[in-house]
Amino acid sequence: MTMQPAPSTEPVLSGLHLAKAFSSGEIRATVLSDLSIEVYPGELTLISGPSGCGKSTLLSILSGLQKPDQGSVRALGESLLELSPRGLEGFRLRHTGFVFQGFNLFPALNAREQVELPLTYLKLGKAEARARALAALDEVGLSARAHLRPAQLSGGEKQRVAIARAIAKRPQLLFADEPTSALDAANGQIIVDMLHAIARTHQATVLCVSHDPRVAAHADRVLVMEDGCILSDRRASRPERHPT
Ligand SMILES: Nc1ncnc2c1ncn2[C@@H]1O[C@H](COP(=O)(O)OP(=O)(O)OP(=O)(O)O)[C@@H](O)[C@H]1O
Ligand SMILES: [Mg+2]
Repeated sequence: MTMQPAPSTEPVLSGLHLAKAFSSGEIRATVLSDLSIEVYPGELTLISGPSGCGKSTLLSILSGLQKPDQGSVRALGESLLELSPRGLEGFRLRHTGFVFQGFNLFPALNAREQVELPLTYLKLGKAEARARALAALDEVGLSARAHLRPAQLSGGEKQRVAIARAIAKRPQLLFADEPTSALDAANGQIIVDMLHAIARTHQATVLCVSHDPRVAAHADRVLVMEDGCILSDRRASRPERHPT
C-alpha cells in the first residue's frame, strides 16, 4: 500500500517518560518504563505488541483514563495531569472518542440512540444531535440500520455503530483498543479502513492498539511495544523515528 509522508505538523498527543507499575501484595510489576511517544494528526497510528506488554495501559494513560506514576501527557496543548478531575472529564467528553473490543453498546437502544446519547451530554439540541447521529451512521454505512438494536446487528455492524458513536462528537483524538479482535478478517479490515478514513477526512488523531499483525499493514505508522517500552517505530515513507 502507499504510505502518506510523515506530517510536518507538531504532535497533538504526546507522552513523555511515562512509567507505571502495579502492586499486588509484595510484588510490584512494572508495566511501562520511561516510555515516550508522539502521535500526529491525520493518521492512523497503531501500537502492537504481545499480550500483557502494556498497550492498553498506555492507551488509557494517553486518553486520560489512568494516571502514570511518572511522566507527562500533553494532548491538544493541554497538560492532562494538571487538569482537575472535572476539567479532565470535560476534556475527554469534548475531544476524545473511544472504541473498545467489546463494542460497549446498550442492549436496549437502537443504533441511532446509541450514537445520540453522548451528544446529549455535549448539550447539543435534539435536532442537531439527531442530524449528527444520522450523518455518523451514514459515514460508517449504517443509515439503513439506524433503527436496529445490538441484538439485531452483526459484530462488524456493532463495531461500526461504536465508531459512529465515537466520531459523532467530532473528537480530535480517537482511541481504539483492539477494535477488530472480536471480528473475522473481512470485518476487521472494514473497521481498520474506516479508522484510516476518519484520520484523513476529519484530520483526527487515531491511536489504535492491536496485536493483530494483519492490521499493521494498513496503518500509517506502527509502533511495536515489548515489556513496557517501544521497540520500533516504523513509517514506510520516512526513516525510522526514534522515541525520545
Ligand atoms: N489495574 C491493574 N492492576 C494490576 N495489574 C494490571 C492492571 N492493569 C494492567 N495490569 C497488568 O499490566 C500488564 C499490562 O497490561 P495491559 O492490559 O496494558 O497489556 P496489553 O498489552 O494491553 O495486553 P493484551 O494484548 O492482552 O490486551 C499486565 O501484566 C496486566 O496484568
Ligand atoms: Mg490490552
